[in-house]
Amino acid sequence: MATASEPAAPSASAPLERPGLLATYRRLWPHLWPHGRGDLQRRIFLAFGLLMLAKAATMVMPFTFKWATDALVAATDKSAPAAVPAGLISAPFVLIGLYGLSRVAMAAMTQVRDGLFAKVAMHAVRRLALLTFEHMHRLSLRFHLERKTGGLTRVLERGRNGIEELSRLMVLTLVPTIVELALVLGILAWEFDWLYSAVVATMIAAYLGFTWKATEWRIGIRRRMNNSDTDATTKAVDSLLNYETVKYFGAEGRETARYDASMATYEKASTQTYVSLAVLNAGQAVIFTLGMTAVMALAARDIMAGRTTIGGFVLVNTMLVQLSMPLNFMGMIYREIKQALVDIDDMFRIIDRNPEIADRPGAPALAVPAGTVRFEDVRFAYIPERPILRGVSFEVPAGRTVAIVGPSGAGKSTLSRLLFRFYEPQSGRITIDGQDIANVRQDSLRAAIGMVPQDTVLFNDTIGYNIRYGRWDATEAEVREAARLAQIDRFIESLPEGYETPVGERGLKLSGGEKQRVAIARTILKSPPILVLDEATSALDSFTEREIQAALDRVSQGRTTLVIAHRLSTVVNADEILVLDHGRVVERGDHASLLARGGVYAALWDRQRQADAAREALKRAEDERALGARSAMEPQPVG
Ligand SMILES: Nc1ncnc2c1ncn2[C@@H]1O[C@H](COP(=O)(O)OP(=O)(O)O)[C@@H](O)[C@H]1O
Ligand SMILES: [Mg+2]
Repeated sequence: MATASEPAAPSASAPLERPGLLATYRRLWPHLWPHGRGDLQRRIFLAFGLLMLAKAATMVMPFTFKWATDALVAATDKSAPAAVPAGLISAPFVLIGLYGLSRVAMAAMTQVRDGLFAKVAMHAVRRLALLTFEHMHRLSLRFHLERKTGGLTRVLERGRNGIEELSRLMVLTLVPTIVELALVLGILAWEFDWLYSAVVATMIAAYLGFTWKATEWRIGIRRRMNNSDTDATTKAVDSLLNYETVKYFGAEGRETARYDASMATYEKASTQTYVSLAVLNAGQAVIFTLGMTAVMALAARDIMAGRTTIGGFVLVNTMLVQLSMPLNFMGMIYREIKQALVDIDDMFRIIDRNPEIADRPGAPALAVPAGTVRFEDVRFAYIPERPILRGVSFEVPAGRTVAIVGPSGAGKSTLSRLLFRFYEPQSGRITIDGQDIANVRQDSLRAAIGMVPQDTVLFNDTIGYNIRYGRWDATEAEVREAARLAQIDRFIESLPEGYETPVGERGLKLSGGEKQRVAIARTILKSPPILVLDEATSALDSFTEREIQAALDRVSQGRTTLVIAHRLSTVVNADEILVLDHGRVVERGDHASLLARGGVYAALWDRQRQADAAREALKRAEDERALGARSAMEPQPVG
């Protein structure tokens, strides 16, 4: 009997109609049955038609077997009255041919149906993945900082698989199996008597009940396995992203141990998964065999009583063996559907998440006739317990440059994040040409501001791609001009592949200074009316810095510019300098007046001048090291 040799699909049962399934299906339906896609809808109809035909063939098949058996028995029965009609001799072969045909028909129709439906399912997968991906970009920076990147892409990946699984399992496996069960029970009652159906129904109920229980138990084990798997992956990704840091601190051993700890949990949980699978399969085999044996005994009894033929015996057996295949899958289906529901739910939950920063309904686009930026008594905290800005007010008049200086952690970059509306201030407001940035569309706001961030991360593509990111329709000449203004053209031209040089993941193949200049070039290309330079030259040595400073000065000509600087030498020419400390502006004025005042700024200035010489030496050494570590593909760039 075939149960044991059937595909060792883990089994579970099907107490399906959980609200989760229906609700999920209701949500998936518009994507599986998309408006205006008659082709996909026709496919679904066709697939269902084929499903029904295939099931009909499945039911005919055991009968051809029965008829062939009976014909064979009749043909070989010596005790039968002599003259066997000639037609009956060939009957077994005709019937065996029919048996083969019905099997082929069944298999062919099932495969065509699967092929037809694949496009429907994959189309839904694509639509929903796109929706989720779009929404992920709409969610706030806070959300993304709190999430592990690997975790988020996994939600996307698992959600995609979940949708595919769910739609395929339901339509291609679950519904057909229910149809088949009903047909088998009906045929047994009709061909033999109700006792057969009752025995099979009891067996199926026990089988499903057991599978359900066992699968519930296994789901917990699998969850532990998945969690440890995710954990291990996240750790591996994080560790490998920090490759250089790991080397700096010689922490390979620690990293390996961390990874191994996660893998140990994974090992344990996945071993349990296999053990529990064995328990499940064994239990299923026992229950199924008991039912099968009982029905065969019933048939034997009826044959001996002359109520049915040998063919009847063959029929019951064939039908049940056939049923064991989908039954065996039921366990897997239950588990996969349940898992798919969880995965899809995770995905839906992201889609359902309201972006923290959203456009007000009907918000107008920002208009920037001049470009005056004002912060009015802005108070802000990332977490309520720790205020970062405690009432900051200042104005950057149109076309002028204001510098913000202050110790690290004072909240300088926070100001730029608020201006970019990555976060919203708890009180106070930020305006551009009199319009509160909270009341305009985010895309228009962000289009108006160019940002050279403190830490530049590049896309894992070519240098050209990363510069062009600033303005997609820029011409080749414009890209080169931007590179020239950012003083990175000579470096790029010195590379064998020029603008086509890949920068590596996050831009790791470039030094900090090179990355920074790519960031400057793409901002130049964007050419926004308002510019934010967040320690834009902090990664450069002072020689390069002076060169780029000249470029930046040129770029900021006529643009409203907010310069955030740690190094004061870069801001001496600003129209106004604000000293930020502990969330407040403690001093303001131009360089000369601040120096004359002899306060915080003057003190900082003195200290930095002394430190500058030392820093210079350090920087040069660092650059040399970075160069040495890089593959010797390019000649020594400056900075
Ligand atoms: N996403 C965040 N969540 C919580 N605290 C943050 C977050 N980003 C920055 N901070 C904290 O806010 C303070 C100001 O940060 P930042 O504006 O980046 O300082 P800086 O003046 O050096 O640019 C720092 O103490 C930092 O730890
Ligand atoms: Mg900063």
